[in-house]
Amino acid sequence: MMDKSMAIRHFLQFSDFSTEEHEWIFQRAGVIKRKFKNYEKYHPLADRTLAMIFEKASTRTRVSFEAGMYQLGGSVVHLTTGDSQLGRAEPIEDSAKVISRMVDLVMIRTFGQDKIERFAEHSRVPVINGLTNEFHPCQILADIFTYIEHRGSIKGRVVAWVGDGNNMANTWLQAAELLGFTVHVSTPTGYEVDQDIAGIRSSDSYKVFKDPMEACRGADLVTTDVWTSMGFEAENEERRKAFADWCVDTDMMRVARPDALFMHCLPAHRGEEVEADVIDGPQSVVWDEAENRMHVQKALMEFLLLGKVA
Ligand code: CP
Ligand code: NVA
Repeated sequence: MMDKSMAIRHFLQFSDFSTEEHEWIFQRAGVIKRKFKNYEKYHPLADRTLAMIFEKASTRTRVSFEAGMYQLGGSVVHLTTGDSQLGRAEPIEDSAKVISRMVDLVMIRTFGQDKIERFAEHSRVPVINGLTNEFHPCQILADIFTYIEHRGSIKGRVVAWVGDGNNMANTWLQAAELLGFTVHVSTPTGYEVDQDIAGIRSSDSYKVFKDPMEACRGADLVTTDVWTSMGFEAENEERRKAFADWCVDTDMMRVARPDALFMHCLPAHRGEEVEADVIDGPQSVVWDEAENRMHVQKALMEFLLLGKVA
C-alpha cells in the first residue's frame, strides 16, 4: 500500500512533474540501470502490484513495465479491453475505484486523455500514462535519458520533429518547455501541432518549418514517428499521400549537426517515415531508446510509490 503520509501523484502528462523531479528521475534511472547491468538485486517494490490496462496494442510498453516491475520485486496484472469488463462498458470511474483498491499502481494505454484523467480522479493509487492519443510521456522520459547518456544535458539543444503533430510531438513540446530546449517542428499541412492540445504555455520553445529539411538543419537530434498512429487507421491512405515528403533520409541527417542522433519510438516503417539507412545507420540510437523505457519507468515507479529514496 501507499505510504499514507504521501499525497498521490500521477504521471498523466510530462508536465505533471517539475523540472527538478524530471532531473531526479533521470538520475535514478542511471543508478537503477547500473544495478540491472551488474545483476544487483534491487527489490524496493516487494509486495507491490502494478495493474497494466491496454486498450491499444503494445510490445515495448508491456514488456518494459512488466519486466521492470518484476525486477523491482513487485508483480503485475495485465488487463485488456477484450478480456475485462472495460470492453463491456463498465464505467471508467467504477473500474478505477475497484482496480485501485487491489493494486498499488496503475498504468493505462488508451485513446482520449480525458479517459485516463477520469480514471486518475477516482483512483486511490498513482496512475501512469502508457500512451494516449494526446501524449506519450514515458517514451519522452526514455528518449531524453538516452540523449543524456549519449551527449549530456539536453538543455539548450535543438530537437527536429519530422512528421505528424501527434502524441509524441505534443510530449516533446511539453518537455522542451520544462527542460529548456527547442523543438523544430515540420508537419504536413493539416497535421500541425496545436499548442492547446499540447498543453504548453507559449510558443517560445518551438519553431515551425514548412520544409522538413530546414527543421533538421543544425539539429542535435532528429526524430520522427509513424505516419498513422493507433486509432487513426481509417485515415491511412490519405496520410500516406500527405506525408510522402516527411521521410527522414540521409540528406536530412547530413544537414543536422555532424554528431546528431536519430530517434524513433518504434514500431517503425522503413521506407515511410524513415529510410532504412538512417534507422539502421550509425547515428541511430533506437535500440537504446527502447531498452531505456524499462530503466526510466523503474525510476518512475520507484518515485511514485516511495518518493525520493536514497
Ligand atoms: N514505443 C512504444 O510505446 O512501443 P509499443 O507500442 O510497442 O509499446
Ligand atoms: N504515435 C504512435 C506511437 C506508438 C508508440 C501511436 O500513437 O500509435
